[in-house]
Amino acid sequence: MRTTMETRSSTSLLLISLIFSFLSALIVPSTALGFTCINTTTTSCESLIDYIPPNDTTLVSISSLFGVTNFYSLLGANLFSLSTPSSQSFAANDTIRIPFPCSCSNGSGISDKVPMYTVKSGDSLDSIATNVYSRLVTYQEIAQVNNISDPSLIDIGQNLWIPLPCSCDKVNGNSIVENQVVHYGHLVAKGSSVDQIAMEYGIDANTLSELNGISNANQLQAGQLLDVPLTVCDSVVGKGSEDYPLLVANGTYALTAYNCIQCKCQPNIYISNITMVLQCEPSQGVKPSNISQCPSMECSNSGLLIGQTSNCKVCDYAGYVNTTILTSYDSFSTSNCSVLVKGLAGSAEASKVATMCFSAFGREIGFGIPRFGGGSALRQ
Ligand SMILES: *[C@@H]1O[C@H](CO)[C@@H](O)[C@H](O)[C@H]1NC(C)=O
Ligand SMILES: *[C@@H]1O[C@H](CO)[C@@H](O)[C@H](O)[C@H]1NC(C)=O
Ligand SMILES: *[C@@H]1O[C@H](CO)[C@@H](O)[C@H](O)[C@H]1NC(C)=O
Ligand SMILES: *[C@@H]1O[C@H](CO)[C@@H](O)[C@H](O)[C@H]1NC(C)=O
Ligand SMILES: *[C@@H]1O[C@H](CO)[C@@H](O)[C@H](O)[C@H]1NC(C)=O
Ligand SMILES: *[C@@H]1O[C@H](CO)[C@@H](O)[C@H](O)[C@H]1NC(C)=O
Ligand SMILES: *[C@@H]1O[C@H](CO)[C@@H](O)[C@H](O)[C@H]1NC(C)=O
Ligand SMILES: *[C@@H]1O[C@H](CO)[C@@H](O)[C@H](O)[C@H]1NC(C)=O
Ligand SMILES: *[C@@H]1O[C@H](CO)[C@@H](O)[C@H](O)[C@H]1NC(C)=O
Ligand SMILES: *[C@@H]1O[C@H](CO)[C@@H](O)[C@H](O)[C@H]1NC(C)=O
Repeated sequence: MRTTMETRSSTSLLLISLIFSFLSALIVPSTALGFTCINTTTTSCESLIDYIPPNDTTLVSISSLFGVTNFYSLLGANLFSLSTPSSQSFAANDTIRIPFPCSCSNGSGISDKVPMYTVKSGDSLDSIATNVYSRLVTYQEIAQVNNISDPSLIDIGQNLWIPLPCSCDKVNGNSIVENQVVHYGHLVAKGSSVDQIAMEYGIDANTLSELNGISNANQLQAGQLLDVPLTVCDSVVGKGSEDYPLLVANGTYALTAYNCIQCKCQPNIYISNITMVLQCEPSQGVKPSNISQCPSMECSNSGLLIGQTSNCKVCDYAGYVNTTILTSYDSFSTSNCSVLVKGLAGSAEASKVATMCFSAFGREIGFGIPRFGGGSALRQ
């Protein structure tokens, strides 16, 4: 059984296809799909994209529309509380961020064989692109990756891969972890500008313009997708860990280690608004995955769980291997920490400052390499 496009739209589609074929003769084909992705040593990574549902919906429907396999990753991408139920309703026209795997080849990045959409009666490639996925892709892009030569002919029940734009490129600039970033497809709101968006996400405006090939900052259009390279947090998770590299984007959290650990990446205002160090702790009220019970999350002989600080001592998450959760335990000379904690003793702020004391002075800004050797003046 076949479904065809409505006559009215096929006239304009014909016009669009004519323009498109004319343009495609001018545009390098590899830039037609996805965002630029050329610099990467790894060809896959995690990405984010905005979505504005056309109708009132629920989180579980959004998850299934985008093939999100780990519901917690949807919660984390939006900083929704861990206890948010999947039946939670979500209003039409609100923006939600979707996490998805990205794959790069031939100079561009697109979602890695997700989402898959099953064609229903009355669908056309254009209505799927425009109404269901609210213009995150064009019908030409869907046709291209699915090898559909005549976009007016699709089968009911046919599975279509929807190629969401993304990238795994490193981006020089203000990012902390070896220029690694999480690329986020940001839907431009009406009246927004490059400067505003750059400011909102803490990114250099020139970097943002260059990455998106914008020469005139006033040329932004509502509904346009911008490649926004979000800063990721530094962590002590090392190469041996099964979740390496744990790249958690600024303004999000992620669950890791069988969902036993929750790691947030947010600027810590207690030391500086640009100190971006992952803050991990045992996840509360989450059923472990692939394991009956969470492994020990305590720094040995310290009485401290991951995420806890006491005076100038810090217990941190350092990865997991073979059902064992690794920890990193550090302490500082009281003189240094007392300077920072002065006036805050006993408060919640004090422990945050202690954590940041560790983050700011105890660790190199980089991939978990200590800034000071074993005999550091800062370490006891
Ligand atoms: C890769 O891009 C080149 C042009 O840049 C194009 O000729 C070629 O068909 C593309 N290959 C694939 C597999 O998409
Ligand atoms: C590729 O990497 C180089 C050097 O790290 C950088 O200057 C350039 O901007 C990067 N290009 C893209 C598109 O990421
Ligand atoms: C969503 O926005 C569109 C366009 O702005 C509008 O036509 C529609 O009524 C809105 N839908 C809801 C449910 O608010
Ligand atoms: C949104 O609701 C309208 C009216 O009920 C319906 O025609 C349309 O198919 C819905 N769109 C999606 C993507 O479900
Ligand atoms: C489309 O065709 C290319 C080349 O024949 C093939 O490599 C690719 O797997 C096909 N894609 C799909 C989704 O069938
Ligand atoms: C992190 O994101 C916040 C807003 O979500 C932004 O204000 C801040 O500048 C960003 N910081 C960095 C270092 O990217
Ligand atoms: C659970 O195991 C499956 C299959 O080995 C794996 O794909 C998945 O990533 C695991 N999930 C977690 C949270 O470790
Ligand atoms: C950090 O905050 C100060 C004011 O407290 C502000 O002047 C500065 O621009 C901020 N830096 C960043 C990168 O947001
Ligand atoms: C993980 O466990 C398996 C089986 O118990 C063992 O063979 C392997 O060496 C372990 N790997 C590490 C890195 O400890
Ligand atoms: C830490 O304290 C030592 C001695 O008490 C001092 O020499 C050093 O400058 C301090 N470091 C910082 C970062 O405050």
